[in-house]
Amino acid sequence: MNHKFNGFGNWKDKILFTPGPITTSRSIKMAMMRDIGSRDSELRAIVADIRKRLLKIGGVSKNGYEAILLQGSGTFALEAVIASTVPPTGKVLFVVNGVYGRRMIEMAKTLKIEYCVSESQENALTNIEAVEKILQTDKKITNVAVVHCETTSGIMNPVKEIGEVVKKYDKIYFVDAVTTFGATPMNIKDFNIDYLVADSCKCFEGLPGFSIIIALRKELIKTKDYKRVYTYDLFSQWQEFEATGDFRFTPPTHILLAFQQALNELEEEGGVEERAIRYKANADLLIEGMHKFGFREYLFPGLRSSVIVSFLHHDHPNFSYDKFYLLLKERGQVIYRGSLSNYPGFRIATMGRIFPDDIKVLINAIEDVLIEMKVIDKNKLKNA
Ligand SMILES: Cc1ncc(COP(=O)(O)O)c(C=O)c1O
Repeated sequence: MNHKFNGFGNWKDKILFTPGPITTSRSIKMAMMRDIGSRDSELRAIVADIRKRLLKIGGVSKNGYEAILLQGSGTFALEAVIASTVPPTGKVLFVVNGVYGRRMIEMAKTLKIEYCVSESQENALTNIEAVEKILQTDKKITNVAVVHCETTSGIMNPVKEIGEVVKKYDKIYFVDAVTTFGATPMNIKDFNIDYLVADSCKCFEGLPGFSIIIALRKELIKTKDYKRVYTYDLFSQWQEFEATGDFRFTPPTHILLAFQQALNELEEEGGVEERAIRYKANADLLIEGMHKFGFREYLFPGLRSSVIVSFLHHDHPNFSYDKFYLLLKERGQVIYRGSLSNYPGFRIATMGRIFPDDIKVLINAIEDVLIEMKVIDKNKLKNA
């Protein structure tokens, strides 16, 4: 389909209940409608401002930490950290319970980095005792990597508690916070995180185009000669920011402009705490609505995040996910397919410029669609 540009201000997009890109405000989209030079003092000031504000959001400062921006989505930053921060003879312990943890293993394989794995079921929290046991016995391990919210299921892993164990054994701690940082109150120092990865387009509600790494400077300094890749070498990217204030290679100027506006809007909302409250209200309302139609979540209560909810397919024989998706899309609502290993499911993200009123509209659309698919009966629903 070829959407012709029809001028500013009169578009009506679908609402994205997807884990990135996400629904963004019009003001964030409009903020990028400028051309700005890449080796220019205005851009340098914007980049410096973004880096400073990201540290603050993580509860840290330039006094010990560095915020590094990198072209590309979250995966690029994850690979950059793995390729650039594991010592040449190092070994990584991957703590895994979903697709994103497994993707990091693939990176280590590709980069020929030695690794081992502590894996739990996709609906089970990380087994901290198992992690500790591995760290006790395998003295070669230098780094430990874990995903904060495993978007596969929406499970929130106990990264603070894992961090305590990792530090007890004096290892380098790396957290994929792609779907948490920006909407989950957290202090990077208290969590003992040495490298945290986030993305411009998830909980920050910016546009997709760059990723974020927050690094403990005293660890980062040690990585000068660790690099296994040229373009995505974290140390070199950092050094360029330090030396010139610029990106090493052509920066995503428009996305940076939009991101600065996204940070303004995060502040206007009341910061990370308030955003977390909104996302939780979204998720709670969504689950309540979905229960009415007979849907069940994949995770047990208490394990899930507020950014995404994983539902199992409806057990009515008339339910077909593909049809459900298309009929919802016709109504302007875009949901997301599942990626659980053993269960057919789908996901609905509650992050982005989405409010409880949007969730109500989605629930009404879902009711409509389920009636059309003859999965639920309108009269019975009324009497329920
Ligand atoms: C937990 C997690 N890690 C990493 C990523 C990065 O994936 P991508 O680079 O495809 O955006 C995502 C994307 O959704 C994610 O949810």
